[in-house]
Amino acid sequence: MLSGKHILLIIGGGIAAYKSLDLIRRLRERGAKVTPVLTRAGEEFVTPLSVSALTGVKVFRDLFDLGDEAEMGHIQLSRAADLLVVAPATADLMAKMAQGSANDLASTLLLATDTPVLLAPAMNVRMWQHPATQRNIATLRGDGIAMVGPNDGDMACGEFGPGRMAEPLEIVSAVEAHLADGPLKGKRIVVTSGPTHEPIDPVRYIANRSSGAQGTAIARALAAMGAEVVFVTGPAEVPPPEGVKVVLIQTAQEMMEAVEAALPADAGVFAAAVADWHVEGTSDRKLKKSKDGLPTLSFAENPDILKTISQRTEGRPALVVGFAAETNDVLAHATAKRARKGCDWIVANDVSPGTGIMGGTENTVTLITDDGAEDWPRMGKDAVAARLAKRIAAALA
Ligand SMILES: Cc1cc2nc3c(=O)[nH]c(=O)nc-3n(C[C@H](O)[C@H](O)[C@H](O)COP(=O)(O)O)c2cc1C
Repeated sequence: MLSGKHILLIIGGGIAAYKSLDLIRRLRERGAKVTPVLTRAGEEFVTPLSVSALTGVKVFRDLFDLGDEAEMGHIQLSRAADLLVVAPATADLMAKMAQGSANDLASTLLLATDTPVLLAPAMNVRMWQHPATQRNIATLRGDGIAMVGPNDGDMACGEFGPGRMAEPLEIVSAVEAHLADGPLKGKRIVVTSGPTHEPIDPVRYIANRSSGAQGTAIARALAAMGAEVVFVTGPAEVPPPEGVKVVLIQTAQEMMEAVEAALPADAGVFAAAVADWHVEGTSDRKLKKSKDGLPTLSFAENPDILKTISQRTEGRPALVVGFAAETNDVLAHATAKRARKGCDWIVANDVSPGTGIMGGTENTVTLITDDGAEDWPRMGKDAVAARLAKRIAAALA
């Protein structure tokens, strides 16, 4: 919820400006007040009338507008909001920001502000990948500017790749995370969740019984405490939480890539039930019954996400939390796992069928840290998540 929050929305000159109209609606239906600024190029893509009708207020367009200056000076305009959002953030506008240029209303507001800024970049894939743009992005990140997206996908120009503006709801999630007050404000946390699906052929796969309920509850609890959460999830039974960036994957390999792409992060919570193996040489056609006998599947090892991230020499999150779902000798196996992977904490649980934990609503966990093993009583998965989130906040404080 964004009630009482004030967003200054700068709409730049890119095709994705049409999505900003939906963004205005989404922000307003959550209670935010939106003050719009339209760049000169932005006006080529959406009209001031649409923007003003959707925000319910006038659109600021010109730096040298005496009327605007009398009503609210540009310095005041740049500071009155809780957050400045630029969507779409064009390559040009980001270049100006990185240079400290202030030659129009948008760039002047961005230079004059001491309010946090969130950019939603959108551009052609080549523009995004150009070394100049990447240099500007690095400068802006170094200046503490936050970004959401861009995403991979088909682009209006007919090419494919990174450069698509984040969807309005993703931008809303990033705004909510940014404005949430709590002990994890300003912390970025990657959470994995759910099972992975490892294909056998185009219609069959190997999976496990994870519902994604515990990982989802953890992501929700962390976001509620103000963290910016990147939620990397396999095909789970429960829907992903609101207020987090969701990355949908199928296989362990895709999960590995998504986690690495989400770094740097302050913490990683690896709650997903990742398949240990995938089927080697998957068929691109459905395997058929044959009178010659049964098909033979051969397996190869999947990347070990927890170990890879725990043992990174550069860019390792300050806190890495793994999960150990065991069916016997839970404590011994989980303690050995923690040492083998090199993670900081392990959350161990007994998932033998009798416990009803896998796919159920409750969990009984043991938290293993440097200080030893701590048994938590059986409780709802939301309560486990809230308790773990509190511990994470204390560890990152
Ligand atoms: C049809 C068209 C589409 C464009 N789309 C984008 C875009 O998606 N991203 C971008 O960075 N620039 C795009 N541009 C270029 C910008 O409009 C141009 O760099 C402009 O100076 C940006 O100004 P602004 O950042 O002040 O809005 C596009 C230009 C045209 C003519």
